[in-house]
Amino acid sequence: MPIITNIKDLKSIHERRVPRMFYDYCESGSWTEQTFRDNTNDFAHIRLRQRVAVNMSGRSTASKMIEQDVAMPVALAPVGLTGMQHADGEIKSAQAAERFGVPFTLSTMSINSIEDVANSTTAPFWFQLYTMKDEDFINRLIERAKAASCSALVITLDLQILGQRHKDLKNGLSAPPKLTPTTIANLVTKWGWGLEMLTAKRREFGNIVGHVKGVSDMSQLGAWTNEQFDPSLDWNKISKLIEKWDGKVILKGILDAEDAKMALKVGADAIIISNHGGRQLDGALSSIRAMPAILDAVGDQIEVHMDGGIRSGQDVLKALAMGAKGTYIGRAYIYGLGAMGQAGVTKALELIHTELDTSMALCGETNVINLGKHNILVPEDFVGRWQS
Ligand code: GLV
Repeated sequence: MPIITNIKDLKSIHERRVPRMFYDYCESGSWTEQTFRDNTNDFAHIRLRQRVAVNMSGRSTASKMIEQDVAMPVALAPVGLTGMQHADGEIKSAQAAERFGVPFTLSTMSINSIEDVANSTTAPFWFQLYTMKDEDFINRLIERAKAASCSALVITLDLQILGQRHKDLKNGLSAPPKLTPTTIANLVTKWGWGLEMLTAKRREFGNIVGHVKGVSDMSQLGAWTNEQFDPSLDWNKISKLIEKWDGKVILKGILDAEDAKMALKVGADAIIISNHGGRQLDGALSSIRAMPAILDAVGDQIEVHMDGGIRSGQDVLKALAMGAKGTYIGRAYIYGLGAMGQAGVTKALELIHTELDTSMALCGETNVINLGKHNILVPEDFVGRWQS
């Protein structure tokens, strides 16, 4: 086993180990992938301020996200098809998150079901909801998440219609993979993945298959979104969902200050500044660049989280110093899961934690909750000079 020192090492193993269609699914942005690239690249424009001769003993990365204790403010983001990256991927990731003390968010489009994860963990997890046309199904999903004691509902707002990811179409992405000559040729080189998959609890969309009718192809994300997702989702419907859930709500996919104000108005507990990992509106701002305007608009009235582009603890540090109260990793932990299962998710969390802790110390800070603008250098034109 190679020596793993950073998230990129996990990514290389993930790429070797997991069937191409699932690696590509994880590693895609929509269309030209400009926003996908900007999410990571824009972090590099922010610099950290080194401070010295500060007593760095007794450091802590612990804080809170939506009033829940976290070992570090880094949650696992909802990621579709996680159980195709590794057998029982959602269960393994949730268990790793629980042991580490960070929140796990289960996607509606997961392979393991809400009940599978609830039966395999003791810490409450968060459930991410895609709203669909079938209202009964949504009501049942919400009831299932309540019965599983999920401690937050994360409603995704930026995917009522799917942004095109070229590779998924070319690869014929499906769960389980359809056996064509091309996929078979690739699968036979992924025997470690395949052997584990033979004993997996599930190989289909666990929250959905057996719970809904009327979809032409149960295995394809594209068919799902086109036929089932509710294109008429609006703030009125969001308010009703919030009422129905009657618990902590996080609205995911906010990239504009006007939408952030609406999220505040409907009574969300937190928002996630997000462009869906660059997988939806190609050409949108990176999440880190979108942050300042949103923080200016609502930062003192609602908890602001962010995702998109985080591949290191230094990135987490920058996002927190910019003003986020919480961050999420998606690809960074999926690389670990694909590479080494649960141990890989733990490794990803450990790497990010060590990078955050050490860099925080080198910035002269001993507690993550004290990070702020004084720790970073942000270029004057970072948010961009756009015509009004
Ligand atoms: C959502 O599930 C995605 O594929 O981005």
